[in-house]
Amino acid sequence: MRIYQKLLSGNFSNEFDSIIDSQEKAFCKRLVLTALRKHQFLRSAINNYTSKSLPQKLSFSHLCIFLGATEILFFSTPEYAAVNSYVAFAKKDNKFSGGFVNAILRKICQNKDTIKQQQNIFFPKSFRQLLQKDYTKTQIDNIESACTQEPPLDITVKNNAEEWAKKLEGQLMPNGSIRLFSAGNIPDILGYEQGQWWVQDFSSSLAIQSLNNIKDKKVLELCAAPGGKTAQLTNEGAKVTSVEISPARIKTMQQNLQRLNFEPEKIICEDAIAFLQTDSSVYDIITIDAPCSATGTLRRHPEIVHTRTTKDIAQNQTIQKNMLETAASHVADGGTLLYSVCSLSKAEGEEQIRFFLKNHQNFKILPITFSKLSKKSQDELKILTTEEGFIRCLPYHFAQFGGIDGFFVAQLQKEIL
Ligand SMILES: C[S@@+](CC[C@H](N)C(=O)[O-])C[C@H]1O[C@@H](n2cnc3c(N)ncnc32)[C@H](O)[C@@H]1O
Repeated sequence: MRIYQKLLSGNFSNEFDSIIDSQEKAFCKRLVLTALRKHQFLRSAINNYTSKSLPQKLSFSHLCIFLGATEILFFSTPEYAAVNSYVAFAKKDNKFSGGFVNAILRKICQNKDTIKQQQNIFFPKSFRQLLQKDYTKTQIDNIESACTQEPPLDITVKNNAEEWAKKLEGQLMPNGSIRLFSAGNIPDILGYEQGQWWVQDFSSSLAIQSLNNIKDKKVLELCAAPGGKTAQLTNEGAKVTSVEISPARIKTMQQNLQRLNFEPEKIICEDAIAFLQTDSSVYDIITIDAPCSATGTLRRHPEIVHTRTTKDIAQNQTIQKNMLETAASHVADGGTLLYSVCSLSKAEGEEQIRFFLKNHQNFKILPITFSKLSKKSQDELKILTTEEGFIRCLPYHFAQFGGIDGFFVAQLQKEIL
């Protein structure tokens, strides 16, 4: 209940990690994420059975009703067990609210079939408005319906992707990622403990895959944790210096890299801009996986639709602009600046890069073609590249495989003087 309340009010919660029992953790995660994905749907359904319309800020007993209704409508929990346990929760908080919770949940049980037939709304009006600047109504409808489903798990393997896809009974994606549809507890999956693969969303893996000739290149990776791209770069033989601001996320990254038996040249815990201001080196490649509004990750973080505002986008834009600006002078002549964000907002992606290029005429776009992948893969991935030469992934791309995260990548080359 606490995690649900925190996420819904826009606060970060990592409390799932404090649940020791893996089955209990998986259940809690699925319950809270389903309730968040179905929040608008549940609000409209529950409103039919309350005497007053639900307020914007929900009370504890309302939250008990939302979670109880989620279990009744979308889980196999027996109805009586769901009703009894959420009535007991509500009573613990306030002994008078048990009756209210009981009455509404019973009505939900009685009308279960009718409720399930109602239209599934995921995006609140405010989130639709946020997307309207960049996308048509049809595109927003498609993004919404692609994000209502529980996402599969994507992994990147060190090598032999085809073989691993067979072993794990997964779907081999056009870029070599392996997609698992019913993964269960991650550490229990074959090859995890042996460090043969790491968890990395399909879209996110495309940024490093778009780079050619990485072997032995001097790479500076800014905003590195939890290390998915560090792992890719190291796996391809680059000499990587990784910079990340968060000590907690550095710790996770080090654990991940240790399991994979990868050793980047350096891992530095510092603000990227502060690091660049005191660093006198130039690099063959600088990657910036910039902090952003993360609206591309809606499938995994459904709370985002209730919490992101244009103010968040504007704040991130300023940080991204400063990182690009500061990194530019550290790219060697003829070198590459790779910029990526997991945002749907073009202000953080396409527009950010157009603005950068206007002020840095010594950089030009290197159109992304995935030339190091097979011809078949290149053809299949074409749908993700834009006329300008960027990667723009949208959640409804590859819907036949369960969709992908929203993501943006630009590759820029510095001219040789
Ligand atoms: C999108 S995540 C990076 C994901 C990572 N590149 C990967 O592939 O696994 C963005 C990261 O940037 C870090 N970050 C945010 N602001 C930063 C800053 N000013 N300097 C360095 N890192 C920063 C965040 O802590 C977060 O770990």
